[in-house]
Amino acid sequence: MCGIVGYSGNSEACDILIEALKRLEYRGYDSAGIAIWDKGTIKIGRKKGKVDELKKAVCDGTFRGKLGLAHTRWATHGTPSEKNAHPHKAGHVVVVHNGIIENYIELKKDLKKEGHTFLSDTDTEVIPHLIVHYMDKGNTFLDAVRATLKELKGSYALGILNEKERILVAAKKESPLIVGVGNGEYFIASDAPAIINRTNRFIFLEDNDVAIFKNNTVRLINTDGEKIERKIHQVQWSDAMAEKGGYKHFMLKEIFEQPRAISETLLGRIKEEKGEIDFEEINLPDVKKINKIWMVACGTSYHACMIGKHIFEANLRIPVETDIASEFRYREPIVSKNDLLIVVSQSGETADTIAAMKEAKKKGAYTLSICNVLGSTIARDADSVIFTHAGPEIGVASTKAFTTQISVIFMLMLYLGKRLGVLDSQDVRNHILEIKKIPHKMQNILEMAPSIEEAARKYMQCKDFLYLGRGIHFPTVLEGALKLKEISYIHAEAYAAGEMKHGPIALIDEQMPVVFVSPVDQTYKKTCSNMEEVISRRGKIILFTDKEDQEIHQRVDSYFVLPDTIYELQPVLSVVPLQLLAYYIANLLGTDVDQPRNLAKSVTVE
Ligand code: F6R
Repeated sequence: MCGIVGYSGNSEACDILIEALKRLEYRGYDSAGIAIWDKGTIKIGRKKGKVDELKKAVCDGTFRGKLGLAHTRWATHGTPSEKNAHPHKAGHVVVVHNGIIENYIELKKDLKKEGHTFLSDTDTEVIPHLIVHYMDKGNTFLDAVRATLKELKGSYALGILNEKERILVAAKKESPLIVGVGNGEYFIASDAPAIINRTNRFIFLEDNDVAIFKNNTVRLINTDGEKIERKIHQVQWSDAMAEKGGYKHFMLKEIFEQPRAISETLLGRIKEEKGEIDFEEINLPDVKKINKIWMVACGTSYHACMIGKHIFEANLRIPVETDIASEFRYREPIVSKNDLLIVVSQSGETADTIAAMKEAKKKGAYTLSICNVLGSTIARDADSVIFTHAGPEIGVASTKAFTTQISVIFMLMLYLGKRLGVLDSQDVRNHILEIKKIPHKMQNILEMAPSIEEAARKYMQCKDFLYLGRGIHFPTVLEGALKLKEISYIHAEAYAAGEMKHGPIALIDEQMPVVFVSPVDQTYKKTCSNMEEVISRRGKIILFTDKEDQEIHQRVDSYFVLPDTIYELQPVLSVVPLQLLAYYIANLLGTDVDQPRNLAKSVTVE
């Protein structure tokens, strides 16, 4: 995820900014850059690779000045390279950016017609050009910045410098940006850890806020130019806490980051007006010739594949086969050249998934990967790749990668459906409307965290858990059980609810919590019968559903009513309380949540 830092004060900016960038390294990045203002000129340095490379190039005393910006880039548009690294400059305007500008193609086209030339493949570069465009029309620098912000669609956290005036501007919409208030000096940063060693007083900018740093003072306006006030918060965070954004563990932070991770994954891809999904990055052969879709992965990513099978088959009416990568590679799967093989991987480095992809390629299938890490083996070696924009996932237990994978699979279904002619623009538009509501609904679920923690306290001493769900909720409960066992070390098993009578029912007694995921859909009544069977054996039910049903609710041990959505998207919502339940149980038991025993974040061996 890109990182932004800025400085305006009385000390040399270069060392301060490089140090701040290093403190943001944990977010992951592929290139870095810096801009230092000094007496009407701005010096820019950019490097592909590590911050240390940039440091070697700029910390030799030549980048002198007390005002500046720096950036670490996690590529989304354009490969990791020096030319795509930030800052980007047009005329006298220099910009660093985190987020995605959705309408950059249209803006770039118009600016090119006016004679602007572009040097990078990024969406960001349109921003300084647009500011220059407005300044050329006679606007002041600040008015040009405001006019530009109003034209940008998508998300941004921005740091902007003007070579001719000693002004630093920070602005944000849907991407985080904070202002650090020091003694006669100010900082900007994407995240508190960058500057927590310099100040513990922060202004948390809100969407459409614009902060202007001039003569060592700051004033805040909105994009209409009206003055606004924001409180200065004093935090008591340690370094480690700041890195985790104040959360106790990365896993919890990542669970709470999911609304934003999904918004970023959708950005630039959903074209609501046209009723279209734009995956400009993929180059599939004739989709009408697809004979069969394979979905192959490991662990949590495999659960996303199982959900994908439901999403694709119900809407595309193409047969989908899911397989665990370590199984696929050692049997003789009947793969043909008209098959599409989708591999799903957060890390892009899982050995079995890489091997399965190679195997399918050898057999002539077209390979498409859904991946979170740019430059990873799976991202590089697949015929096409769609990135989940979840940002780096640091906790070993996968959370935000999973929900962004499902979001990509859902968009891919719409993309293929339109090309196959089974969905028209209106169908796609209706589906887009539903997925756009997910981040907000997810936020509502996250607000239930205290009551889920209470439930965790109630069941934390149980030795075994059973998880049950039908249809698309079966992979969701598999994921819920996996989360619980891997971080709390409690034995948890998941079954398709219809399978209960075929064996697991023997386990049920008053010691056994049974977690049901059962929104009110076509299989709800069937699952209610399974709940009756558990109740009559004095099992304890924890139910996650989406509608009130007193008949059942008064007889279960605990229940949670989640926001509703369409069938295909229910897993994205219902997995969140399962992640939280696992997290809180593990935390109460005192396990090493972020690095559970025996597990590694990326399984690069068989
Ligand atoms: C579980 C988990 C693992 C991974 C699996 C695949 O929380 O994280 O099960 O999902 O090792 O990893 P990727 O997605 O990196 O291929």
